Amino acid sequence: MTGHEDLVRRARQAGLNSYSPYSGFRVGAALLAEDGTVYTGTNVENAAYPVSNCAEVTAVNTAVAEGVRRIDTVAVVCLDADSIDDAYPCGGCRQVMNEFAVQTVLVAAGGGPHRVHSLSELLPHGFSGETLLS
Ligand code: THU
Repeated sequence: MTGHEDLVRRARQAGLNSYSPYSGFRVGAALLAEDGTVYTGTNVENAAYPVSNCAEVTAVNTAVAEGVRRIDTVAVVCLDADSIDDAYPCGGCRQVMNEFAVQTVLVAAGGGPHRVHSLSELLPHGFSGETLLS
């Protein structure tokens, strides 16, 4: 069983591979899919800034490419954040996590402790595809 501490550790590890020459802000993500498999991702920047990817999106897209459609937990670690308050997922990532039914989000800065949130706390009244599909 993958616990919260394991997932945060995997996210921190993934952040070491961050490609972030422009921001110098390394982010790692690790997610636990509903079937128990862990997928990781990191932020991948580009000289054409808008085509850069956040760590959470990299991890989610990797999992989806392997057939995952439901995700339990996502851990995000901002290795270069001075404070945990600067380590929270951006709005776009919250929406991406909502698409795949993420329940729990773990947030940490550097090597510090993590906080546990529900996605609905971070994205209240989130937009989902239910209306579009019905
Ligand atoms: N970043 C993420 O990877 N995830 C977030 O939720 C917020 C921001 C990345 C994008 C960019 O490479 C760097 O952090 C600075 O914005």
